[in-house]
Amino acid sequence: MNRITTADIREMKKRGQKIVMMTAYDYPTARLVDEAGADMILVGDTLGMVVLGYDSTLPVTMEDMIHHTKAAVRGSKHAMVVGDMPFMSYQTGWQDAMRNAARFLQETECGAVKLEGGVRSAEIVKKLVEAGIPVMGHIGLTPQSVNQVGGWKVQGKTPAAAVQLMHDAQALEQAGAFAIVLELVPAPLAELLTGRLSVPTIGIGAGVHCDGQVQVFHDLLGLYDGFVPKHAGRYADAGAIIRDAVARYAADVRTGAFPTNKQSFKMDPAALAELSPLTNTDHLARRHALGLDA
Ligand code: KIV
Repeated sequence: MNRITTADIREMKKRGQKIVMMTAYDYPTARLVDEAGADMILVGDTLGMVVLGYDSTLPVTMEDMIHHTKAAVRGSKHAMVVGDMPFMSYQTGWQDAMRNAARFLQETECGAVKLEGGVRSAEIVKKLVEAGIPVMGHIGLTPQSVNQVGGWKVQGKTPAAAVQLMHDAQALEQAGAFAIVLELVPAPLAELLTGRLSVPTIGIGAGVHCDGQVQVFHDLLGLYDGFVPKHAGRYADAGAIIRDAVARYAADVRTGAFPTNKQSFKMDPAALAELSPLTNTDHLARRHALGLDA
């Protein structure tokens, strides 16, 4: 089965077919998400929080992102993998953006990159797209600017802010972004934007009318409880399942119930017999056998 491409994603909007995107940051998770049928895998810089234990996405580096994106590409066959450009990998100018976006495509073989910002990032998006690099935009709440916007707040709630978001979306569309993430945007505004744009909108906390949805794997599966956003559905409590499994394993190790013969390996009795001096409980014979008295 071939990998999904940006052309497929655009086609899905035209057909009115919802686009499914989910984060994954490593080989086994990407494999599961891919096998479950996601259209796109986002190796998001949220990995800073849900995988690396930072308080925000800001400390995440290009090296972190390349390392994890490579694993997600290895783990998936069908979904398009999108590498998230970390803080300061593109804000410092288009040359840095070009070099770092190229690293994603060349070193990880992912299908596209994502970067944050509307009007302010449009020139960079245009340059990357002209160079043949597929770019996904990201507006609304942009976590890399969380210190500037004053926290994890819904964006575009006033008429002026909503109009600014429309300009942002339009600028990205004109710059050639193949899709745009709308994060923490009121549902009616996201619906309006989705109707006006020719490129798909991928919502996260932006209501049901977006062309697609993206969620963080760990939020959906109960694997991260540092902060669970209101928009994150809970589809499993994998955290509880894992804790229970590890606790049962620990109890079995402590009582000697694990491992059993089933998990152990046999030895040829003749080979074992040759080791009998080593199993002799007589202290002197044991020292002699081990060559300690020579
Ligand atoms: O980094 C990420 O996971 C993201 C999503 C929240 C859209 O940008």
